[in-house]
Amino acid sequence: MEQIIPIASDHGGFEMKQFLIEKLKESGYTVDDFGTYSNESVDYPDFIHPLASAIGMGNYPLGIILCGSGNGAQMTANHHHNVRAALCWNVELAKLARQHNNANILALPGRFISNELAWEMVQAFLSTDFEGGRHTRRVDKIESIENQDNE
Ligand code: RB5
Repeated sequence: MEQIIPIASDHGGFEMKQFLIEKLKESGYTVDDFGTYSNESVDYPDFIHPLASAIGMGNYPLGIILCGSGNGAQMTANHHHNVRAALCWNVELAKLARQHNNANILALPGRFISNELAWEMVQAFLSTDFEGGRHTRRVDKIESIENQDNE
């Protein structure tokens, strides 16, 4: 089955995004590029919100987001229902985000890791399954705080 990978960044993650798009295409993935489309300074929520919304609605199973630190992108994405965006900076964390947290978005710090490491992390993230079991109960509790806030 064709796997379509959505990807989005601000200017801080732009160069790495372009690198990852080429690698993903070489590996047979189809890529939906949500921007940004140049090095020009932009506001990361303008590009991250549309991708996170699409993930939250179930349009894609997994996605990739980037900004300079990864923090702004991750914070933005995690405002969306059904989104679990994990900020990772090594391969083991990218795998654990899938295995234990059922993360559906990988957030990368474009200014703090190499392109090669980012690609290794993307491959690990896309090829690792959620372990389920005890982690299902924990992941289910992540969004349950919203109910408590409304009581
Ligand atoms: C942009 O300069 C930078 O603030 C942004 O890419 C990101 O690091 C924000 O969290």
